[in-house]
Amino acid sequence: MYNILSKINLAPNIHLFKVEAPNVARKAQPGQFVIVRVDERGERIPLSIGGWDREEGSVTIIFNEVGRTTSKLAAVPEGGSIANFVGPLGLPAHIDKFGTVVCVVGGYSVATIAPVIRALKEAGNKIITIIRTPTRETLFGDEQLRNISDQLKIVTGDISFDCDGFVIEPLKEILENETVDRVITIGPACVMKLVSSTTKLFGIKTIASLNPIMIDGTGMCGVCRVIVGGETKFACVDGPEFDAHQVDWTTLLARRCTYSGDVQSTVQYQCTTCAQW
Ligand code: FES
Repeated sequence: MYNILSKINLAPNIHLFKVEAPNVARKAQPGQFVIVRVDERGERIPLSIGGWDREEGSVTIIFNEVGRTTSKLAAVPEGGSIANFVGPLGLPAHIDKFGTVVCVVGGYSVATIAPVIRALKEAGNKIITIIRTPTRETLFGDEQLRNISDQLKIVTGDISFDCDGFVIEPLKEILENETVDRVITIGPACVMKLVSSTTKLFGIKTIASLNPIMIDGTGMCGVCRVIVGGETKFACVDGPEFDAHQVDWTTLLARRCTYSGDVQSTVQYQCTTCAQW
C-alpha cells in the first residue's frame, strides 16, 4: 500500500497528492509517469509525475477529477493509502541545451511540464511558456512556472465546444518575433495537433507528450499505440514524447474518444473533439 502524505485542492476538480513511494522517487525523471490503482478492484490509470523528493521518498501527482476512478482517488483522505503506484514509467524527457524553447501547456498538464521546464532551464535554455486554461478559476501552477520561465503568457477561453486555437495567436506572435529552437507541447490532443501544424509552417522542431488511453503501461497490452512517422509506437514505452510533426493526429484523436460516450464525466469544460480540457 502507498500512503497519501498530503493532499491539496489546487482548483475545482484538480487535486495534488504527495504519495510515499521511495522506490519511484529514487528513479523519477522529468516527463515520466506512474500507473495508479486506488484499490485491488480498481482500474489502472496513468498519471504524470509532477515532482519528487528523493530524501523524503515522496512523489507528487496532480490529477483532474473527471470520472469514477479519479473521483474515488480524490476521495482517499490524507493519511489514507492506495493499492498500487507503479513507476517511473516511460522514457524521460529529452533535456539538452537547445537555445530558446517555447512550452505550450494546456489543461492540467501544467503539473507534468514543471519538472521538464526546470530541467531545461538548468541546462541553460531560455524558456517561454504559454499556459492555456478555460478560465482564471481553473488556472493553477502558474506561479511555479513563472519562477522557472523567462516569459510566461496565460491564455483563457471557453473551450466548451472546441478546444481550438486560443494558444495559436500568441504562439505565432512568438515564432514571428523570436528565434525559437524548439517547441514542446503537452495538453489536450486538439491543442497539441494545432500547435504541431503551426510550428510545421515555421519549420521548428516540435515535441508532443502524447496521452493516449493506457492499461498496463509496460508495452504489453497495445492499447496506447500511436502512429508516428508511419510506424506503430507504444506511447508507454517508446514515449510519451514524440516528434509532433510525425504523429498521426487523426488516429490519435479517434482512439482517445473511443469510450468518451460511455464515461460519465464531471468536467465542466470539455472539448467535443478530444474529450479533454
Ligand atoms: Fe499497454 Fe502501452 S499501455 S502497451
